[in-house]
Order: sequence, then structure tokens, then C-alpha cells
Amino acid sequence: MPMISKLELANDLINGRFVHYTDHYSFQRLYPFCNENVSGYMDFLNLEGKSVLTVGSSADQAISAIARGSKDITVLDICPFTEDYFYLKKSAIETIDKKDFERLLFYKDYPRTFKNNRHPFALKDYPELLAHLQTQNEESHNLWLTLSNTYSGEIIRKNLFTQDEEKPSVTRQLTDYLKSEKTYLKTRERLAGVTPHFINANITHGIPTDKKFDTIILSNLTTYLNLEEIERLLDSLIPHLNDGGQIMLGYMYRTDEYSTYQEEWDVIYHIDKIKGLNPDIEVKSFQGVKGVLFETPHMKDAVYVYQKKR
Ligand SMILES: C[S@@+](CC[C@H](N)C(=O)[O-])C[C@H]1O[C@@H](n2cnc3c(N)ncnc32)[C@H](O)[C@@H]1O
Repeated sequence: MPMISKLELANDLINGRFVHYTDHYSFQRLYPFCNENVSGYMDFLNLEGKSVLTVGSSADQAISAIARGSKDITVLDICPFTEDYFYLKKSAIETIDKKDFERLLFYKDYPRTFKNNRHPFALKDYPELLAHLQTQNEESHNLWLTLSNTYSGEIIRKNLFTQDEEKPSVTRQLTDYLKSEKTYLKTRERLAGVTPHFINANITHGIPTDKKFDTIILSNLTTYLNLEEIERLLDSLIPHLNDGGQIMLGYMYRTDEYSTYQEEWDVIYHIDKIKGLNPDIEVKSFQGVKGVLFETPHMKDAVYVYQKKR
């Protein structure tokens, strides 16, 4: 991160000072949890035993990929706190039970709809978590400990994180690890021994590594790009893909392969234009976030999957 330490940036954000240090103002804050159906689209991706590059400040894409058997993970994000949040979540999964994990990190509509968690981010209630975090990543431990010694959990949760958070019953279905006690414990097992490589960078400027991957996950970051930028990004990523590898190129809410594009929508929703970029791009749909909320499988979200020929 340039010029300023993460602690200084966190202090500025938490105190509500206007700051613009990262490449993209909107992505300085952490996403508390994914707000797309990661679990839904992971059914279309090869992850078990694969090398994965994923975006994701909430760390949920990385944790879900690990839950599905990937041990070789690179996490790239513009947000400088991504690595620290990954280690916080990993240490929490490894030391506290699912109920306490949710009590620590859920905020909106927790424990009941229209109520917010009254004691969010109460890190000091979990000394065993902090002790484990220290063994995992000293720098992350020091950051979280300093912040929780300085601020209330509520102000950290409100100002260092975005407000984009689905209600708990939805979030549990969007990730793999929070679906049930069983998946939580399975994820705990699989997280042990996995040490991701973290890159704090803007992916549109290229990936600063020579490594090749089997699966690349872009979350919904292409929503913020125009068609030329999406094409350039795809072209820059294909050389980083092994033969037969896949790129999850973009996420579309409330859409399936038959949806008709509306002029006011972002270009990522223009299926003909995006598929026109490369003949090896397909659209895959699954129960969407709203489908999960309203418990109806017919409300779909979709992703683009590019598959490199063998
Ligand atoms: C687009 S956001 C939205 C959250 C997402 N819907 C989810 O469920 O996780 C996902 C992540 O992409 C990161 N991001 C956005 N544009 C990026 C870029 N050009 N390079 C690297 N990371 C980026 C953000 O910091 C954020 O952590």
C-alpha cells in the first residue's frame, strides 16, 4: 500500500475522514460478507485440487474455494485490508464455534430482522481467537488488536466495512462454510495448512505474478468496467490460465441467459456483447441472491464462464 500505513488508513476511515488512497475510492472498505451467490456459481467451477486466483475483500470467495478443496490460492484485491480480514475469519473459524463466529461478524438484521447486532466485532470477547491470530499472522493480529483497543466494535463495523450485507439467513446460503455446522467444521479442517498468497493491486493494471492458474474468479468487479476494459482484462488474464482453465468473468444479479438487456444497465449485463468478446464464454445461471431471500429457485443470478481450450 502506498505512502500510508494500513493503521493510518483504518484510523481515517473509522473517524469518518475523507480519504482516497487506493486506486478506487469505493473499494477502500471491506465487504463484511459476500453479497453474491458464491456457492451458486462455484458449482460451475473446477476447484478441488486446483490453483485459484480470486478477488474478494470479504475473503468469502477464498474461504469457499478452500472449502471446496483448493489448497493453492492467490487473493488479489484493491482493498488493503483483505489479507487481515482473511486471517481474522480463518482464526475465528479455527477457534470458535459457528454461533460465536456469527455473533462476532454478522451485523445487519442480527440476531433478528430489522435489528442490528448490539455488540458486533467484540474481538476481545475471544482471547483464544486473538492468540491464534497472532500465530497465524502477527501484522494482522496487531492491526485488529490496536483497532479494538481504540474503538468500539460498532464503529469499526460501521466505518471500516461497507453497508452491503445480506441478512444472516441469506448470507449462510451464499457461502459454503456457513451453510451448516457440518460445512463450518469441514471448512475448519480444510483451512488448516492453507496459506494464500495475497496481492494488493488493481487487476486492470495486470497481475503482478508469472503464475498460471486453473480457475480465476472476478466476483462482480467487471460491473465497474466498460466493454473495452473488460476485453482488455480478459485478454490480460488468458495467458495466466492453464489449458482447460476457467475465468469467472462477471456476475449478473436478477438475470439468466434469456434476459433482455436494458439500456440503463451496466454493459456486463449485455450478454450478446460480452459473449461477442470470445467464443469460449458461456452464461451459467443459478438461484440468485433474491431467490435465496424469497426462497424461490426461479429468481436467478448468472455468471460468465470463459473456458480455455486444451
Ligand atoms: C466488486 S466487490 C463487490 C462484492 C462482491 N459482490 C462479493 O460478493 O464479494 C468485490 C471486490 O472486488 C474488489 N475490486 C473491485 N475492483 C477491483 C479491481 N479493479 N482490482 C482489484 N480488486 C477490485 C473490491 O475491493 C472488492 O473487495
